[in-house]
Amino acid sequence: MKVLVTGAAGQLGFDVVGYCESAGDEVVGFDRSALDITNRDAVFAAVSSFRPDAVINAAAYTAVDACETNKALAYAVNATAVGYLAEASGEIGAHLVHVSTDYVFDGTLDRPYREDDATNPTSVYGQSKLAGEQAAGSGAAIARTSWVCGVHGNNMVKLVLRLVKGQSDLAFVDDQRGCPTFTADLAPALRRLATDRRAGVHHLTNQGAVSWYEFVGEILAASGHDPARVRPIATADLDPPRPAPRPANSVLDNAVWRDAGLPIMRDHREPLVELVDQLTR
Ligand SMILES: NC(=O)c1ccc[n+]([C@@H]2O[C@H](COP(=O)([O-])OP(=O)(O)OC[C@H]3O[C@@H](n4cnc5c(N)ncnc54)[C@H](OP(=O)(O)O)[C@@H]3O)[C@@H](O)[C@H]2O)c1
Repeated sequence: MKVLVTGAAGQLGFDVVGYCESAGDEVVGFDRSALDITNRDAVFAAVSSFRPDAVINAAAYTAVDACETNKALAYAVNATAVGYLAEASGEIGAHLVHVSTDYVFDGTLDRPYREDDATNPTSVYGQSKLAGEQAAGSGAAIARTSWVCGVHGNNMVKLVLRLVKGQSDLAFVDDQRGCPTFTADLAPALRRLATDRRAGVHHLTNQGAVSWYEFVGEILAASGHDPARVRPIATADLDPPRPAPRPANSVLDNAVWRDAGLPIMRDHREPLVELVDQLTR
């Protein structure tokens, strides 16, 4: 398969490029400096010259709090540019796989979110990502994921490994729950969406829901530290409060994937141990 990956320097994009290469694909990965997806002409030129079988869009404006004040940029990258990718892919018959987020939900449901549950994003980031899903069109595969962690880029595992070296007080919220998802496991699932040319929304996460507080305890334990070093707090106690609201319930039921008979991603504690090992070796 010929695969074009956008956002190739991001934590997910980097691993998607690596995984597709290891699977024998002919891959071109563009970081932002090589392909700014908000540049319509550049998107069409890149897609029409490489002529991929699949385009995997891992590019996004992911600074959730900054999106609140940079609404135009959030929509340009997370929504309008996705339309360019969809149009350019459509012209040459490439299958678009677009990555989206748990933030399209308001997090008030008392069970894991299914793909057909009503969306209601409460942040600019979530609103722009939902607009991106719509811009991708009905023929594209949408992969909604959550709490992404990988070797490259910023994530909770790296933050905790950094903080634990100092004396700082570790306090994390215990009233937001989700499924940490590891790029090493998500990349193969995204490639599968591409090879099978699946269309529509798919929730794709590792299994095992935890609060951020519980996840930090797991990271501490996996890295040989005392999990009791972290204490739980409530979102309302964050000082200062964060500009963008976060969903209290971010847990995504991978229903469409499971019902299609595809292999559910493993419990997040397994790839967590592998990532901690990689980062601390
Ligand atoms: N991180 C999470 O916890 C999380 C949770 C749910 C869903 N997601 C989704 O997962 C996907 C991958 O996220 P990630 O964690 O890998 O984020 P990331 O590390 O921030 O990677 C995103 C990449 O997109 C690039 N980018 C930004 N604007 C661009 C533009 N105009 N043109 C081309 N590239 C551009 C960024 O480059 P620069 O760094 O140079 O700006 C960055 O390398 C995104 O769709 C995100 O919404 C992430």
